[in-house]
Amino acid sequence: MASNQIQDLLSRRYRVMGQHAPLFYEKPLQLVRGEGVWLWDQEGRRYLDVYNNVPHVGHCNPRVVEAMSRQASTLNVHTRYLHNNIVDYLERLTGTFNEGLEMAMLTCTGSEANELALRMARFCTGAQGIIVTNFAYHGNTEAVAEIGTGFMPESRTTKRVKSFPIPDSYRPLDGLLGDDLAQAYADQVQQAIDEFHAEGMQVAGILVCPDFANEGLLNVPKGFLERAVAKVRQAGGVFIADEVQAGFGRSGKHFWAHQWYGVTPDIVTMGKPMGNGHPLAGVVARPSMIEAFSKEAMYFNTFGGSPVSCAVGMAVLDALEKDNLMENAVTTGAYVTEGLRKLQQRHAIIGEVRDLGMFFGVELVQDRLLKTPAKAEARRIINLMREKGVLISTTGIHNAILKLRPPMPFQIEHADMLLHTLDEVLTQVADQEVA
Ligand SMILES: Cc1ncc(COP(=O)(O)O)c(C=O)c1O
Repeated sequence: MASNQIQDLLSRRYRVMGQHAPLFYEKPLQLVRGEGVWLWDQEGRRYLDVYNNVPHVGHCNPRVVEAMSRQASTLNVHTRYLHNNIVDYLERLTGTFNEGLEMAMLTCTGSEANELALRMARFCTGAQGIIVTNFAYHGNTEAVAEIGTGFMPESRTTKRVKSFPIPDSYRPLDGLLGDDLAQAYADQVQQAIDEFHAEGMQVAGILVCPDFANEGLLNVPKGFLERAVAKVRQAGGVFIADEVQAGFGRSGKHFWAHQWYGVTPDIVTMGKPMGNGHPLAGVVARPSMIEAFSKEAMYFNTFGGSPVSCAVGMAVLDALEKDNLMENAVTTGAYVTEGLRKLQQRHAIIGEVRDLGMFFGVELVQDRLLKTPAKAEARRIINLMREKGVLISTTGIHNAILKLRPPMPFQIEHADMLLHTLDEVLTQVADQEVA
């Protein structure tokens, strides 16, 4: 009966959305309710959410829901009227940045934020060339699709985007180590700059996620990003940090992932966790850039930064602070990492465990020496985890890196459930290989 109902919903979905609209899991999930780190399906079955970073302060966080409904039942207009919520929120938001990043523009999605950042970078530098990694995803508008070297067709034909190999210390360029590796990847960025120049184009900037999250939450060779940015700046370009996934305290120690590095961006883009599911995103940049750009190119976004959105954004910041969620990312994050490293000792398929606060990447390999990506196994693992009530997914060039990125109120007891279930599933997958 229940599976007939799911089948019917799936067929109707295919008819109105087509066969290719992405859907998680071999047996798609129909979710009907969420609370904190938990989700429930239509049959009342409970799942531990270890994947979704948008419900940053927890699914249906009461503080956020209350702020949203209070403002929605009072007034909702747009940023062309004065409103305390907008200014209060932006003052608090910009207060989380290093000196120099003091002005903001609000949008509804991360894609819009990146599109705006590209326009601003190109306008302010007078150049067109953008440098990204060779497995990048930064959203879905046309200009942003051009920088989507992971799987966007527009990135294959554009002349104004060049890429460099993902700065990966697990599969290092030419087998190099340490400082040599950092330099080698920075040289690849220089090569992209030189290629632009050879084609008669100047460089507007480098745009990367400081966590290199879609690339697989890489362990970036120390010193690489600082050197790469210096080369881009020397060529006249700016540094755009895409914090759409990485930001808002997920990395634990710092509010922004770029603050782990010794270089401050010129423009930062953000989204996903910002509104806990309400469409709130934006750009924070050097005031001189925002002033120069917006003087010439009037920017208005009908829904971006409404009083309701800003009330929501403020409630997210309150929840992060009052519930000590950054501290939790440090302590519970370290506990998860330790547990994953213990699993690595017992399961040969785990090639490397990577972590940054409440964000984990588990690189799966068929052979630890050859580092052959365990793609089919990764797929089996996420589906078995789902069957056992724990939701995770994969990322990376081969989709063989487990991506674990739970809502921030994730506690030790949830970590135990994750680790125990993963242990069971890894054993099951290894047994199937032997059989
Ligand atoms: C790093 C990064 N940037 C930008 C985006 C685009 O955000 P949105 O889907 O809100 O447009 C995504 C979405 O997955 C992302 O992962």
